[in-house]
Amino acid sequence: MQDAAKQRHILVTMALPYANGPIHLGHILEAVQTDVWVRFQRLKGEDCAYVCADDTHGTAIMLRAQNEGISPEELIARVQAEHERDYAKFDIGFSHFHSTNSPENEGLLQSIYLALKANGHIGKRTITQLFDPEKNLFLADRFIKGTCPKCKTPEQYGDNCENCNATYSPSDLIDPRSTLSGATPVEKDSEHFFFKLPEFTDMLKAWTRSGTLQESVANKLREWLEGGLQEWDISRDAPYFGFEIPDEPGKYFYVWLDAPIGYMASFEALCAKTDYKFDDYWRPGTDTELYHFIGKDIVNFHTLFWPAVLSSAGYRTPTAVFVHGFVTVNGQKMSKSRGTFINAEDYLSHLDPEYLRYYFAAKLSGAVDDLDLNFDDFVARVNSDLVGKVVNIASRCAGFINKGFDGMLAAQCSEPALVAEVQAAKDEIAALYEAREYSKAMRLIMTLADKANQYIADKAPWVIAKTDKQAPEVQAICSTGINLFRLIISYLKPVLPAMAQKVEDFLAIDPLQWDSVDSLLLDHEIGAFVPLITRVDPDKVAEMMDTVKASQAVAGGESASHPSVEQAKVDTPLSKEPICEEIQFPDFAKVDLRIAKIVNAEHVEGADKLLRLTLDLGLDEKGEPLQRNVFSGIKSAYDPADLIGRLTVLVANLAPRKMKFGMSEGMVLAAGPGGKDIFLLEPDAGAQPGMRVI
Ligand code: 2FM
Ligand code: ZN
Repeated sequence: MQDAAKQRHILVTMALPYANGPIHLGHILEAVQTDVWVRFQRLKGEDCAYVCADDTHGTAIMLRAQNEGISPEELIARVQAEHERDYAKFDIGFSHFHSTNSPENEGLLQSIYLALKANGHIGKRTITQLFDPEKNLFLADRFIKGTCPKCKTPEQYGDNCENCNATYSPSDLIDPRSTLSGATPVEKDSEHFFFKLPEFTDMLKAWTRSGTLQESVANKLREWLEGGLQEWDISRDAPYFGFEIPDEPGKYFYVWLDAPIGYMASFEALCAKTDYKFDDYWRPGTDTELYHFIGKDIVNFHTLFWPAVLSSAGYRTPTAVFVHGFVTVNGQKMSKSRGTFINAEDYLSHLDPEYLRYYFAAKLSGAVDDLDLNFDDFVARVNSDLVGKVVNIASRCAGFINKGFDGMLAAQCSEPALVAEVQAAKDEIAALYEAREYSKAMRLIMTLADKANQYIADKAPWVIAKTDKQAPEVQAICSTGINLFRLIISYLKPVLPAMAQKVEDFLAIDPLQWDSVDSLLLDHEIGAFVPLITRVDPDKVAEMMDTVKASQAVAGGESASHPSVEQAKVDTPLSKEPICEEIQFPDFAKVDLRIAKIVNAEHVEGADKLLRLTLDLGLDEKGEPLQRNVFSGIKSAYDPADLIGRLTVLVANLAPRKMKFGMSEGMVLAAGPGGKDIFLLEPDAGAQPGMRVI
């Protein structure tokens, strides 16, 4: 434990996941980065609270709940339970997980708004926006599509053209229409509330220079500040799922105002169940530290609006904002159309969470770079480092101690220089964790593990034990090995908490702390060696990717990077997946679509999402019955018995794909967001198996 006088008091947050969708591996990267840092602080004996919450407001949530025929409250309660479940499986050690749709958040939001208003930082003016006359809703730019006014490309969003990169306002689009109803939007005036951000330019300039930001982030911020800040629109008109502005009926706070206040709300809820004092962490002039971990897509919200709002309302500003990059999968952006959009749940049903915690740690740095989750590298790295290097140390030594010495470790280690070298790495590893340079920390720890293995290989206790199982030398070598192993596990504990706990049980020791490396385990009885981690099975990875691909093949082509922010938050209801890349007619003409009759449908053992379909395609050119076997990710929506006898549409000339469960010879067409909402495409009466779709 730290000397109480020197103990740090730290509050850490990570970005609040949006309640519009499941936790995916982009969220997990951020959670692992944050959790490792928090665990490291706690192991050192610092007082480190870690809070998070679901980010629940906005148009997208409202529309999604409408689509599902439930209330937004029901939707966010269900999603929050799923989010908490997924984070818990990845061992994310929150002190508290809350919701922005909470009384704490509403109270804080209102008092902050009233403070901003009292300080003269809120303005009001009427703006003109496009309005959907059928849905009775003001339309954010991404709910509007039309033809680019410059290059005339159709189907462009309301703010910019993906073809010629022109930026414009939605009212400039030719033939604009609402993506929600298809109606032609009309212009409508409405009064909006604005936060006077430009008045904080000097304050933000000073804050940027105070060492709170990574260099690339500070540079970006300087650019924004030099370019001149704009007032920030913090209101939205009804209907909106969020908190109403006091004394302004029909006007709601924009979700991005209440989302970061959710950090405070979650902490307030933590205070209610612990001894933490809210003002100690949120009022200026204390020596507590406040850190926000976020992705690079939401830097403006956290380094412009948020510190300005806090300072106007009389709160402290963050000690630092730590920004990370996006996750790519096998070198590509996470994307449903490419089958690389991996949800936490998909991962967890096939692979051990500790593998991913280690892999992310082994690749994370303190910079804003993207991180590629390359699955070949993942299998190789985890197997080589954790199984081949770390666990190997213990598995080579423990048996000799258990069999020859009743589990007793020697009274001394036999290689003091090596042991001291591993102990001496403590401060360097600590500095790397502190600076979020986890990849460097992992590399250093693996170098130490290599040295430990080399030592054991050189001494070859198995050779000595062949003639005398109880030779003191065997005990000394293996006790040294076990001690080196214990030191290495102490260093890895922030990354691998579950494995560290198994090691503590096996060694029969109290929970390891950071300072545990200052002492050694001598004259101590250990337990029997238990398997600590199994090798990553590449088949499991392939199985996961197959199920992800199969489920996304029917779920459409949405793509996302880590918490894909504003776009997800306000603009894209899940029922409106973005249209994929444009193709030319000859490409389309290559697709051979055929009517197929489902003659058999059955569950596939060991597959969560797949059904095996046997399809009748009529007769081949020789008059023989033509059948195909297809695996389809529609299990969540259909009982196999209900499918038999139905007609559907098959992509008949898709190259057969070898899946873990067998060969898949084509793909059936279906639509929908996923889960129970998958709808198999069916032709009208009269269509016959084998007919070509024209
Ligand atoms: O980007 C996102 O997914 C947002 N839900 C993050 C909010 S972070 C904070 F400000 F609340
Ligand atoms: Zn254009």
